[in-house]
Amino acid sequence: MATLIATAVPVTHAGILGLGVYRPRRVVPNAEIVDAIESSDEWIRTRSGIAARHWAEPDETIVSMSVAAARDALTAAGVRAGEVDAVVLATSSQMVLGPSAGAVVATELGMEDTAAFDISAGCAGFCYALADAANLVRSGQARQVLVIGVERLSDLLDTTDRGCAFIFADGAGAVVVGPAEQEGIGPVAWGSDGSRTSAIKQDKDFLEYFAEVAAAEASGGTSQRPYIRMNGTEVFRWAVTFLEKACRDALDRAGLTAADLDAFVPHQANIRITDALVRTLGLPETVAVARDIIETGNTSAASIPMAMEQLVRSGAAGPGDTALLLGFGAGLAYAGQVVHLPPIA
Ligand code: UT7
Repeated sequence: MATLIATAVPVTHAGILGLGVYRPRRVVPNAEIVDAIESSDEWIRTRSGIAARHWAEPDETIVSMSVAAARDALTAAGVRAGEVDAVVLATSSQMVLGPSAGAVVATELGMEDTAAFDISAGCAGFCYALADAANLVRSGQARQVLVIGVERLSDLLDTTDRGCAFIFADGAGAVVVGPAEQEGIGPVAWGSDGSRTSAIKQDKDFLEYFAEVAAAEASGGTSQRPYIRMNGTEVFRWAVTFLEKACRDALDRAGLTAADLDAFVPHQANIRITDALVRTLGLPETVAVARDIIETGNTSAASIPMAMEQLVRSGAAGPGDTALLLGFGAGLAYAGQVVHLPPIA
């Protein structure tokens, strides 16, 4: 057997060097969507915490929102696009399977011959991508990695679906991961349960949709594009019973306890899930808790970087603070890690 040489020189520590976000221009308050779902502003606020969300306009694409967020992340990190060795982009709402959005984003940012790929892990996507990026940096395989979480979930929304129409939203968040003097990204606690895909999923694939369109054309009937569907109660129960363990696992792996935390940034799924986790984890009142869902809705893979940005921008937490991140959702996939919060642009 030939001996392979490992050319990569490992580095000891990785950290998040900078953070940027993109919030779509169009703000959609509850009042704009309640009639189509026979709901009310009060019901939505009480049951989910959401007051408004941003829905992207046609020019605010997965690529353009990613590029805007990435530019700010690079500025905050003091890193030039040319210094980035890899782009890892998490999304579940890119409507083309190829090329990867990551490759297009890398080129639009002026990168040349940069490794780039997309990952799909639902609302856990950003934390999965962050774990991958930290490992790429620590192994020496890449020095600086751009991690992006981005969604245009409004493209997958049936605006008459009472269970989804008020929840999902659009946006992008990006971070630069690179070498750090001390560890800034703890080991990830992650998992999935593909036997429970019916809890959140796209209701049909595109081949089924095209067959439906052809049949509708032949018969004069109607067809419906693929939409995201969710059994909210099932996901809610899973979140408030299972995810405490994931949080404790992430803390254990980082060698910390809840008392060491300055901030908690869970996926912005439902403010009641956030509140339940704060209670079961026994987080001290001094811990700043991200509640970006109020103005941003649930942006799936983009929600954690967007919520981190909101915490830092508001001054509730600051760069260098110790934060527990927790992504969870479709697949039933989850991923959590403790990080030091980055500077924002
Ligand atoms: O990002 C991926 C992860 N996603 C999540 O974590 C989402 C988790 N799930 C949830 O956030 C919640 O389940 C929802 C916010 C989606 C729904 O809240 P809920 O408290 O679980 O509502 P429910 O489905 O149990 O419905 C309670 C009541 C029902 O009426 P009755 O039977 O009690 O008379 C529903 O018909 O609320 C009614 N209802 C609504 N009323 C007004 C359901 N949807 C609506 C609505 N507006 N949109």
